[in-house]
Amino acid sequence: MTKCLICKTSIEPFLSLRKMPIANGFLHPDQFTGEYFYDLAIGFCSTCYMVQLINHVDREKMFHDQYAFFSSTSAHMAAHFKAFADEMKTRYLKGKADPFVAEIGSNDGIFLQHMSHGGIRHLGIEPSGNVAQVAREKGVHTISEFFDEQLAKKIRAKHGPADLFIGANVMCHIPYLHSVMAGIAHLLAEDGRLVFEDPYLGDIIEKTSYDQIYDEHAFYFSVSSMEYLVEQHGLRVVDAQPQSVHGGSMRYTIAHKGAVRVSDRVKNQKKKEKDLGLNRKETYNRFRRHVEASRERLTDLLGQLKQKGASVVGYGATSKSTTVLNYCRIGPDLLSCIYDTTPIKIGTYTPGMHIPVRDYKEFSDKYPDYAVLFAWNHKEEILKKEKQFSRQGGKFIVYISRVRVEN
Ligand code: SAH
Ligand code: TYD
Repeated sequence: MTKCLICKTSIEPFLSLRKMPIANGFLHPDQFTGEYFYDLAIGFCSTCYMVQLINHVDREKMFHDQYAFFSSTSAHMAAHFKAFADEMKTRYLKGKADPFVAEIGSNDGIFLQHMSHGGIRHLGIEPSGNVAQVAREKGVHTISEFFDEQLAKKIRAKHGPADLFIGANVMCHIPYLHSVMAGIAHLLAEDGRLVFEDPYLGDIIEKTSYDQIYDEHAFYFSVSSMEYLVEQHGLRVVDAQPQSVHGGSMRYTIAHKGAVRVSDRVKNQKKKEKDLGLNRKETYNRFRRHVEASRERLTDLLGQLKQKGASVVGYGATSKSTTVLNYCRIGPDLLSCIYDTTPIKIGTYTPGMHIPVRDYKEFSDKYPDYAVLFAWNHKEEILKKEKQFSRQGGKFIVYISRVRVEN
């Protein structure tokens, strides 16, 4: 029996996605032998409602000096983080003498650059050395360490309490979440706020976006499970605001218990979660059936296109694509290559299935007949950029929420 990382009762596994490589482990041919694989499986805790991975990959295998995810590859995400920073400044920092803002998983400085440029005292905590260096070059103060309770104590001793503690797409990455929350409770000023966002469980279930399941995503949060977790650390979820980014996310605002009035949005969202069945095992069993059906439809479609002699590629070498490609066993025989914008990924091969990753600028050299859109959460941005592909008859294949050829 696997124990729940949050409440220590047992987890009920509901989906196994087979042997998986590291989602961001793009590699070169001399690394194919010896590539690391683990069993990717996910379960539900019926006591605290936390959905979580059953097995975990060592953090040093995922976050290091060759980390392949650079936040600033999307113009849309850059705009999102600018708006996020502006809102935080107006709501929580205005009128404060010398406020201090800390961010966990600050990556290339996509959020904190707006604090740095505004002359606001800040600190990024980012263990992946290469992306942290990009942030430093933008003038963002960054330390390359893993955040936990011990580090929080050192930060408070050196910088004083944090008025604002930010996280985006990182809390769900951390199996030792109790240590992180205890650290934040220690670091946060009495009237401080923890504001963070992560992919939302409700969207994953509703959209069958099983590609959110991979090594880095140790947890799949809901407001209900978040409430259970933070209350053990003297904290309270005081607001919950849905966000459209990353295929559907939730922004949680958390404060010390009793410090702030709780928004009605928290209660309303918990009611929605009950209506959606996020507190019931059957919901997850139904999700598994939807995932299996999605795999069948996608592999059938790609098989038919191959038989017809159509040319098919992938678009966006996302972490999410690693789950889809390996779970559906889609290799270079079905997709000749994947186009992407990230310099560190270009010229490498995808984890596990070893499909070559090419520069997106070469996409227009010879348009394929079809392109599977793995960066489906950036659809608008990509369709705008690739208008010519569609104009000359090329078609995108999308698999969220259902497998289809877009016209
Ligand atoms: N916040 C950015 C980056 C998300 S990727 C965005 O939303 O685009 C997750 C980041 O968290 C990675 O850069 C990874 O190196 C970092 N990370 C992982 N574990 C961490 C920890 N314990 N403390 C701080 N950062 C961590
Ligand atoms: P994202 O959904 O953030 O990836 P992940 O699943 O890893 O969280 O998408 C980022 C990836 O998509 C990155 O590899 C770059 C690629 N991408 C493009 O190739 N073109 C684009 O226009 C955009 C926005 C992203």
